[in-house]
Amino acid sequence: MRALVVYESMFGNTAKIAKAVADGLATGAEVTLTDVTGAPADVPPDVDVVVVGGPTHTFTMSRQATREEAARRGGNRTAGGIREWLQGLPAGGHPQDFVAFDTRVNMPLLPGAASHSATRLARKRGFSVTAPECFLVYGYHGPLVAGEVERAREWGRLLGQQLAD
Ligand SMILES: Cc1cc2nc3c(=O)[nH]c(=O)nc-3n(C[C@H](O)[C@H](O)[C@H](O)COP(=O)(O)O)c2cc1C
Repeated sequence: MRALVVYESMFGNTAKIAKAVADGLATGAEVTLTDVTGAPADVPPDVDVVVVGGPTHTFTMSRQATREEAARRGGNRTAGGIREWLQGLPAGGHPQDFVAFDTRVNMPLLPGAASHSATRLARKRGFSVTAPECFLVYGYHGPLVAGEVERAREWGRLLGQQLAD
């Protein structure tokens, strides 16, 4: 099985989770891990599962304005995020499995998650979607809540197992 993991990260937390997910997946799959700025314009034909992760911004995936706000708070500036990447994929069927994850702040009852929005968008693009997962950070900058990197690795490992069946 071949997996493509595409992530977006302003303060580095989602990047750490993406790396852990890729490590977990790599126990049963051949994995390519890439920042969204270096992601291919279409999913390569030999890829079986696309895993997409990004930070939750204003209850959903980032937009240019929220990335600029993140940059004002010391984060990386990126021209495009996972929303733009998914929107830019060529129209037509995408036979691959699709799974999203996100990071979001560790506050109960805060609605919305980037991974849920990404999953809805991927379904519209014709992917076969699997339930998304959220990983928690403290505040806008992080760090990640203790244990989240390990949980991400295990989630990736189980995902690989589940999708290979
Ligand atoms: C403009 C902006 C809006 C945000 N809105 C939310 C939000 O609605 N819900 C939430 O849980 N976290 C929100 N956050 C916190 C981000 O989820 C957090 O910065 C992110 O998970 C850190 O990941 P990163 O280090 O990969 O950028 C927001 C952050 C920024 C910069």
